[in-house]
Amino acid sequence: MPKITFIDPNGTHHDVDGTPGETLLDVARDHDIDIEGACEGAMSCSTCHVIVERKAFKNLPNPDEDEEDILDLAYGRKRTSRLACQITLSDDIDKLAVKVPTQFQ
Ligand code: FES
Repeated sequence: MPKITFIDPNGTHHDVDGTPGETLLDVARDHDIDIEGACEGAMSCSTCHVIVERKAFKNLPNPDEDEEDILDLAYGRKRTSRLACQITLSDDIDKLAVKVPTQFQ
């Protein structure tokens, strides 16, 4: 079962379990993590933007061109930014830590 750590903008860590097949956005919602996800995963809003820890980022499949286009709209985009609605958990992911960016930096 994938172990997920969500790190709030204030530095608080939330350690939760995910289930293979769920998206990271699903996991966040199941555990009341403050990630909006306004378009419900239709990839048209960027409000599910998260920053993945560098090591884990390398183990994820690369974002496709459509995700890259939406990420360009995300406030405070970093090199390891992803959309939480586009990361699907699998048995290959045993640990994943992501930072939830503040909306205004
Ligand atoms: S929920 Fe809108 S892009 Fe992920």
